[in-house]
Amino acid sequence: MSRHDWESAAADWLEQLSVDSLRRARRVVRAIDATHVEVDGQTLVNFSSNDYLGLSHHTAVIAACCEAMRVHGAGAGAAPLVAGQTPLHAEAEARLAAWKQTESAVLLPSGYQANLAAIQTLANVAKRGGKSLRILMDKLCHASLIDAVRSSDSAFRVFPHNGMEKLQRLLAEGDTGQIQVVVTESIFSMDGDAAQLKALSLLKLQYSFLLMLDEAHSSGVYGSAGRGLADELGLNSLADVSIVTLSKAFGCGGGVVCGSQVFCDALVNSARAYIYSTATPPVIPGALLAGLSVMENEPELQSRLRESSKRIRDNLSRMRFQIPPGDSPIIAIILGDQNTALNAAEQLRAAGHLCIAIRPPTVAPNTSRLRITISARHTDAELDALLTSLRSLRM
Ligand SMILES: Cc1ncc(COP(=O)(O)O)c(C=O)c1O
Repeated sequence: MSRHDWESAAADWLEQLSVDSLRRARRVVRAIDATHVEVDGQTLVNFSSNDYLGLSHHTAVIAACCEAMRVHGAGAGAAPLVAGQTPLHAEAEARLAAWKQTESAVLLPSGYQANLAAIQTLANVAKRGGKSLRILMDKLCHASLIDAVRSSDSAFRVFPHNGMEKLQRLLAEGDTGQIQVVVTESIFSMDGDAAQLKALSLLKLQYSFLLMLDEAHSSGVYGSAGRGLADELGLNSLADVSIVTLSKAFGCGGGVVCGSQVFCDALVNSARAYIYSTATPPVIPGALLAGLSVMENEPELQSRLRESSKRIRDNLSRMRFQIPPGDSPIIAIILGDQNTALNAAEQLRAAGHLCIAIRPPTVAPNTSRLRITISARHTDAELDALLTSLRSLRM
């Protein structure tokens, strides 16, 4: 295929996406503070950020980032196994492991890479031990988990979203030559509902499997000092491997794999997603350490977030919007086709709210939605204004 042929195929495809209202375009969003942005000259209240506690603009976090950069430089300069593991990286990993109550933790440049590295580690060790890995994953797992599982060359099965009966049948089918791993998220990114962690803990009594739990959207939001949903449910030792992303409630970026010392050592020795990528810039461990202190010392942020999320959820249910169950700050208003969702997002934008429409392939066809995310920093007046605008949506 010549370059010309390739570009004409790409142009045709993009044109078709436009016709189907499925084409993506980036918009320039200038942050004013944790909950306000400017888009095309219009100031909007941001209901599309995962910065649940407003830490991206917390003065202590910003001060820690500036100090980290002043002391350790703008970049790490090398991969962690070469010369990129600064004392700040080591300190942040140790503090995160203590907070998460795991033996060890490894910091990576993104949550996507953290998921990739964790699955690579599971697969690499199984292969070395002459065992086959069989991964059982929830249908609504995040793309980073799906990509990690698919690229690992492991056998995998997908169970229906939170389908514990099907999962039990799949677990029962596994044979002794296999290491079975269940992969799920504590709070699902696009539906905002929770995994059945209690049911998983019961399955663990019956079957032998490892649990990999992505706590991207529950870290900072649930549990004492924001340790996550497993902590909140008293199931701290349930997951064998947990993922914490720093891109959500920590308000910065990066991902952390938390697990036993031997798991983390195996990751450092075998996961290509970790080994062959430059260590995170020092601002990231700086922000992580400051974020942990905020979560420990300002529990009122988590309480406010939870109350505001409940208030919006209760009101939307009363308005008879179709929203998946739960109490998380991710509130998905399922609208159906993509044009309806885009139109609703546009009406909200005209009223001063940024609520992005989520369309296929991110979500299943005919489940396009407004994905509203609540922040501890939204004021009552802003939450009320959002409800008023949602009440008067024309569809
Ligand atoms: C559940 C889940 N896991 C992992 C990721 C990837 O994290 P990151 O954006 O830090 O790469 C995301 C979001 O982007 C997510 O929602």
